[in-house]
Amino acid sequence: MNLEGKVVLVSGATGGMGEEIVKELVNKNCKLALFARRENKLKELKDSLETEKSPIIYKKCDVQHKDHIREAIQLTVETYGKIDLAILTAGVLIPNPIQTFDSSIIKKSMDINFMGIVYFLEQLLPVMKKQGGGTITAVSTLPDKRGVPGWGAYGASKAAISWLMESLRAEGKQRYNIDFITVKPGSVETPMIEEFHRPGSATAQQAAVAIIRGIERNKKIIQFPLSQVLLIRIRDLLPPFAYDLIPVEEAKGPGYPSVEEEKQ
Ligand SMILES: NC(=O)c1ccc[n+]([C@@H]2O[C@H](COP(=O)([O-])OP(=O)(O)OC[C@H]3O[C@@H](n4cnc5c(N)ncnc54)[C@H](OP(=O)(O)O)[C@@H]3O)[C@@H](O)[C@H]2O)c1
Repeated sequence: MNLEGKVVLVSGATGGMGEEIVKELVNKNCKLALFARRENKLKELKDSLETEKSPIIYKKCDVQHKDHIREAIQLTVETYGKIDLAILTAGVLIPNPIQTFDSSIIKKSMDINFMGIVYFLEQLLPVMKKQGGGTITAVSTLPDKRGVPGWGAYGASKAAISWLMESLRAEGKQRYNIDFITVKPGSVETPMIEEFHRPGSATAQQAAVAIIRGIERNKKIIQFPLSQVLLIRIRDLLPPFAYDLIPVEEAKGPGYPSVEEEKQ
């Protein structure tokens, strides 16, 4: 895909990876529509990055609300007449300790990470069918095949994205000329993981470059960094008894919140 001059929608544009993706797209003279909850940060992005060849529109959008997403798509189509590419990065990482197992954490993770993508797909598909094609890129995570202690809510929401995107891919392309790309990052230095003191092995800028390059090369799955891809995919092959020997606290990471067992 040649990105020069394309109309690109970015959700989670205010995030570590989202912001770097936006910078890469400005360099390619894309016409941009940016969405996230922090409107002041969206305005900052427009004020600092917009150029004559790369106009930027934005609107507050909480992906938990279907109406916000409908308005985001409407605004983009009304302004630019089409959407060539959507890059859906909005997401949250919330620990769900076994000691205080809580369905509301799982629901929130599913609502933002998974249903946020589902609502976008529901609005994007009619637009892209009508215009004869397009590309939808959704961000999952590298460990999307096996559970990780303490991070089940996040992992389940991301595994659901990987499944859904793969389910749509062949038919979307054959019937409607729509490409579905799944991005599976390993750990990337962004505010999301800083909060849990988890050092990343790629910078947000390196991640953005890998994502944009993958889209340009029409990849179906974009996963990085290579060292983590190899490690995780080998780990995926372990039989359950070996997988369960995983050192639990190490898997949760050093910044994982410590939790007191609730007394009955
Ligand atoms: N960093 C990593 O190591 C890593 C690894 C694998 C996958 N990922 C995934 O990569 C994506 C980008 O993450 P990041 O690392 O760049 O994290 P980040 O810096 O925390 O950015 C998250 C983005 O999501 C937006 N967001 C959060 N909740 C939202 C909501 N309810 N509605 C709309 N937007 C919302 C945030 O914007 P507002 O706060 O302004 O709404 C922000 O723009 C996420 O999907 C994440 O799960 C990250």
